[in-house]
Amino acid sequence: MIDPFGRTINYLRVSVTDRCDLRCVYCMSEDMTFLPKREILSLEELDRLLGAFIALGVRKLRLTGGEPLVRKNVMWLIERLGRHLESGTLDELTLTTNGTQLAKFARSLFAAGIRRINVSLDTLDPTLFRRITRWGDLDQVLEGIAAARLAGLEIKINTVALKGQNEDEIDDLVAWCGREDLDLSLIEVMPMGEIGSESRLDQYLPLSLVRSRLEQRWSLDETDYRSSGPARYTVVRETGKRLGFITPLTHNFCESCNRVRLTCVGRLYLCLGQEDSADLRAPLRASGDDGQLLDAIRAALRLKPKGHDFMIDRRHPGAAVPRHMSVTGG
Ligand code: GTP
Ligand code: 5AD
Ligand code: SF4
Repeated sequence: MIDPFGRTINYLRVSVTDRCDLRCVYCMSEDMTFLPKREILSLEELDRLLGAFIALGVRKLRLTGGEPLVRKNVMWLIERLGRHLESGTLDELTLTTNGTQLAKFARSLFAAGIRRINVSLDTLDPTLFRRITRWGDLDQVLEGIAAARLAGLEIKINTVALKGQNEDEIDDLVAWCGREDLDLSLIEVMPMGEIGSESRLDQYLPLSLVRSRLEQRWSLDETDYRSSGPARYTVVRETGKRLGFITPLTHNFCESCNRVRLTCVGRLYLCLGQEDSADLRAPLRASGDDGQLLDAIRAALRLKPKGHDFMIDRRHPGAAVPRHMSVTGG
């Protein structure tokens, strides 16, 4: 699949549910309205839909949410998708999770063919963790991470840099990831959806600033290692672990975009930061044959915009798109 700007699209991110057992302050408001349950695709429909994308050239699938592991019977879907890894039509099946359910699922994830997961963790301080997630329990996530490692999964930690909240802790997170043998990606907060009382302006911490602070203590060696995501990586010389920077605000990376994202109601969003989208549920349900569906996916690809217009400053303190990150899973 090639988009209008000549970019090859081979990575699909799938939000299998927009629901979550946490309410991170940069992601959601406390009082969220979720997508209506009756509109959500069944796991069988998702399996067929993802199969169509794989037939069209998707080589990497990432399940996201909300929290993907709170979707009922999600392991059924993950096990089904594992067949594409076995047949070699898919290079990677992976997951971005908040870690709360990992103790329960880690072994099954590995058995289904998942080798690498990303776990969101913004702080190692239990009180701050509770404040950022609004009610989460840090120990539950740390136990999940330990279980995932024991199961053989490679783990990358995702930390959203938040002004005045975890900014003094990022240094500790780098040290902790070094000790625990985990890679780490730092993320700039993106202005997606209404989040309640906090302002994006109060949350936003440019990673250029974080990086220069970290460089006072750590030697960050440049590397040309790339995952298929947007992070630019360095290697922390003192720990040997990778430290990635995801900088949609301070350094746009849209020119190398290789991905599109699907919601749990079957809507395909062509860019995280724009509204261009296409409904795939109607063509999916219109016929048991995939012809219409494949045509609809090809037509949707033509809508892919050049990039996002995320901006957070005094003149742009609000949401760039009304949709929350949890609808499209980042
Ligand atoms: P790998 O590089 O494969 O490990 O994954 P990743 O870092 O792309 O995936 P993950 O789900 O862990 O996402 C990390 C952060 O990157 C999230 O905040 C995503 O929203 C963000 N992200 C992923 N793709 C894009 C993109 O196309 N544009 C923007 N602006 N952010 C993205
Ligand atoms: N800006 C940046 N990152 C976000 N995430 C959720 N909402 C936002 C936002 N508004 C992160 C989560 C998770 C990843 C999928 O996206 O922490 O790690
Ligand atoms: Fe849930 Fe992840 Fe959003 Fe936090 S960032 S509320 S864990 S979906």
